[in-house]
Amino acid sequence: MPYFSEEWIQELLQKVNLVDLIGEYVTLQNKSGRWWACCPFHNEKTPSFSVTPEKGFFHCFGCGKGGNAIHFVMEQEKMTFPEACRYLADKVKLPVPDIKDDSNYEKRKQQREKIFAMNKITAQFFHKCLYEPQGKDALAYLHGRGLDDRIIKIFGMGYAPDKWDSLLNLLGKEGFTKQDMQLAGLVKINDGKCYDMFRNRVMMPIINTFSNVIGFGGRVMDDSLPKYLNSPETAAFNKSKNLYNLNMIRKQKNLKRLILVEGYMDVIAMHAYGIPECVATLGTALTQDQARLLKRYVNNVYVSYDGDGAGKKATLRALDILAREGIESRVVSIPGGQDPDEFLKQYGKDGYIKLMKASLPLMDYKFRVTAEQYDLNDSYQKEKFAKECVHLLKGVTSAMVREKYMKKLSELTGFSVNAIAQDAGAQQGQEISWKLPARETETESADLKTENCLIRLLATNPQTALKLDGKLDEGDFRHPANKKIFSYTLLCAKKGFSPTNAEILSVLQSEEDLRHATELFSMPEEVLGELKNFDDFFDDCVHRIQLGRLEADLKIANVKYESETDPEEKKALVTKISALTKEIHKLKTSF
Ligand code: UTP
Ligand code: MN
Repeated sequence: MPYFSEEWIQELLQKVNLVDLIGEYVTLQNKSGRWWACCPFHNEKTPSFSVTPEKGFFHCFGCGKGGNAIHFVMEQEKMTFPEACRYLADKVKLPVPDIKDDSNYEKRKQQREKIFAMNKITAQFFHKCLYEPQGKDALAYLHGRGLDDRIIKIFGMGYAPDKWDSLLNLLGKEGFTKQDMQLAGLVKINDGKCYDMFRNRVMMPIINTFSNVIGFGGRVMDDSLPKYLNSPETAAFNKSKNLYNLNMIRKQKNLKRLILVEGYMDVIAMHAYGIPECVATLGTALTQDQARLLKRYVNNVYVSYDGDGAGKKATLRALDILAREGIESRVVSIPGGQDPDEFLKQYGKDGYIKLMKASLPLMDYKFRVTAEQYDLNDSYQKEKFAKECVHLLKGVTSAMVREKYMKKLSELTGFSVNAIAQDAGAQQGQEISWKLPARETETESADLKTENCLIRLLATNPQTALKLDGKLDEGDFRHPANKKIFSYTLLCAKKGFSPTNAEILSVLQSEEDLRHATELFSMPEEVLGELKNFDDFFDDCVHRIQLGRLEADLKIANVKYESETDPEEKKALVTKISALTKEIHKLKTSF
């Protein structure tokens, strides 16, 4: 772990009682040594979610989710690995160590907490002002935009008085210095003069998932500029790593999709009209970090930006960023250049739901936007259009999806699917054929079974890893989780230490790796007990894995040889192939 030492994580995992922890979220029942519940991560009626406290992990036999206490908290509380560690450490009263690569951490943390405190007072103050005589116009403005007091309260909206020093005085009385206020972005200091940053604006507090006010957005009530003033970046406010309304999203159960809009007012209007699963960026374009954040909540995002030209451009950009995180996105196109807020006012929730139903998946949207740039009745332009779309298809990794869009493109242009496929194929070059040898075949899945057995043995008895030292290395394992587990158990065994299953899991991060490992660890001991001659089985596993690796290398070398044109390279490959063949023969006969 880049953040905490292995030893500390081990201590943390030992201190956490997994049944107590998970029991806070679901009702667990003990059945023959394991604890069972209906899975908190997918909908089910009969329990397939299991907790094995003595080994420190959970695994759902339904959806496959699994991991240790840290992973559980990450999933449930939507936290990152370090956040979940701190959360658990706090629960079990384990001091969090100073972090070596982040010595400023404590200082920054204190600064952040101070800003949170100031922001909270500020947000409450602004809200109160809205209902005082000085906030009359602001309140009328919000009401005029169709927002009632219930919505105003839900979003904690307020009014920043039309004065230079109202916050300055208030926060001063609370014991904060001008420098504190400046670091929070609440006041400005110019030529030694200090004054409130937000004046005569309708205020929107921006709240993070831990319910801290991290910053503000403030809107003018007329046509003056800038329309919105946002808090600057501070120790507590990182615009590129937060989203507006995520605090409320976090509380929603069984979230199926999120809608990404451009403005604060759009989020608020959507909520007011009964569509609460909506977030917005904070005055900047969507970032990769924000996409990753979205991915923690859903796999399905509707991009619903303004219907004007700028909105379309921003949409295309957002789609690419979302796709990079593997998020499935669709585009809700709003006609007439309106934004969601304006559209809702005119057509209501039903109107918007219709737009959502008519939303286009990423590639359809891209085709449509591309088509708008060409006159498809002109045969040259049609050709250009087709070429551009073929280029778009290059980014599609699924063959099925690619085929679907090739058909669509054929319908749009009249070119045959065959011709389109040829062009698409030619552009993809060799990469595709290179992937072929890696595709899973029957023998490979048998090899995977062998290495899985071996890993299961290691997890039960980590010291046996020492027997593999020098015989196998990470590269001999196919599954990425198996590679990591092997390396980690060997490392621990060399230190004379046997990690628990929960500790082994702490080196895994991805959902797929955790699913694989917890499924393996859930395999009953009896299966292993049946192996009569343990040592023979062990040697057999090692032998088969070594052989599998060599055979795969040979296969790849052969494929390379076929397509290689450079004579020098060809010669080198011949040498390699013969060496591999010899080694394989040796291994086969030695056994
Ligand atoms: P919009 O101009 O579309 O505003 O900007 P809006 O959200 O629809 O607000 P209303 O309906 O006019 O009141 C979209 C977002 O861009 C950022 C804000 O985050 C805003 O919500 N923005 C816009 C700024 O940060 N500064 C600006 O001056 C304008
Ligand atoms: Mn608007």
